[in-house]
Amino acid sequence: NYYAVLMAGGVGSRFWPVSTVQFPKQFHDMLGTGETLIQKTFSRLSKLIPKENILVLTNDIYNDLVLEQLPDLCQDQVVLEPAMRNTAPCILYATLKIKKLNPDAVMVVAPSDHWIEDENAFLDNLQKAFDCALKQEVLMTLGIQPTFPNTGYGYIEFNKQDTNLIKKVSQFREKPDYATAKTFLSSGNFLWNAGIFIWTVEAVLNAFRKFQPQMYQLFKEGYNHYNNPEEKEFIEENYTKADNISIDYALMENAENVYVLPASFDWNDLGTWGSLHEKLGKDENNNAVVNARVFLENATNNIIRTDNDKTVVIDGLDNYIVVDRDDILLIYPKEKEQEIKKITAIVTKNK
Ligand code: GDD
Ligand code: MG
Repeated sequence: NYYAVLMAGGVGSRFWPVSTVQFPKQFHDMLGTGETLIQKTFSRLSKLIPKENILVLTNDIYNDLVLEQLPDLCQDQVVLEPAMRNTAPCILYATLKIKKLNPDAVMVVAPSDHWIEDENAFLDNLQKAFDCALKQEVLMTLGIQPTFPNTGYGYIEFNKQDTNLIKKVSQFREKPDYATAKTFLSSGNFLWNAGIFIWTVEAVLNAFRKFQPQMYQLFKEGYNHYNNPEEKEFIEENYTKADNISIDYALMENAENVYVLPASFDWNDLGTWGSLHEKLGKDENNNAVVNARVFLENATNNIIRTDNDKTVVIDGLDNYIVVDRDDILLIYPKEKEQEIKKITAIVTKNK
């Protein structure tokens, strides 16, 4: 009864010029290990979930990339969205498709582009979350010990007195402002949401029915068509009518049956070049190098990546991102990595 839904529709624009709209980061070997992020995620999940029960949710335009990189999948397992509407609509749609295959299914929803090192710890946590979700009607999250007031994450509050392994969540707060995130961090009973959710088909559909009744109605109308030839037409006609909203705002902030299992694995969402730098192997001066041969002098804390083992010579450079890809060369301060998103838009427009 185990199913997985892999979300692979994001663009990863802060990883430009490697990640582009045509070829986003989940389809790249960001860590230089010979496997792309989505391949790593798929292989991790397939240790617990039968391969034929894993669905990949993505935009139409990435269909071929998904099938090419995950040859174990058949076309039916690639759920295509005609437009980007964030995670709530695609999760609802995929859940209804799974319900048709197996109404008793319990599923994990996971991003396709994160870094998780300790696979066994992850699988152990996932198993515990499945067990819990099968016992009660709950929305399970995996919580990460926060290290700084990151405003790009969801925060999960639990009761300090709760000594259970799996704790009831008193508040789920998506992307708080900086001041709020700081108070969360100092209070000691908040975790980061890893963006991985575990629930039965029934539990999550009940939450949609309650908190997103319009969206629920919209997708429920197509139910008879799902996994049938008319499905594509229905989705093309109706998908864009759905609100553009993430699962975090749509359900998690509202539901009262949210639980958290503090994760026992190391996690990183690989959101920026800086977070990737943290996870890569480094030389004695803390430079991380991917696909490049380097001659470095007076260079510290840089991340350097080329397309094809190009030779890179650097003297006198600290804390920079140096990325050479196709016809773009990026040399950018690490501290301004959040700006890359904006720069990308400007540069691609003027090209
Ligand atoms: N199929 C599909 N369609 N996937 C999507 C879409 C979409 O429209 N939009 C985003 N995704 C994918 C992304 O590729 C990513 O793998 C995942 O869904 C989460 O989306 P993000 O856009 O990366 O979300 P976020 O980083 O702002 O926030 C989420 O993740 C954080 C942890 O990394 C939230 O769940 C936060 O609460 C959480 O802390
Ligand atoms: Mg993210």
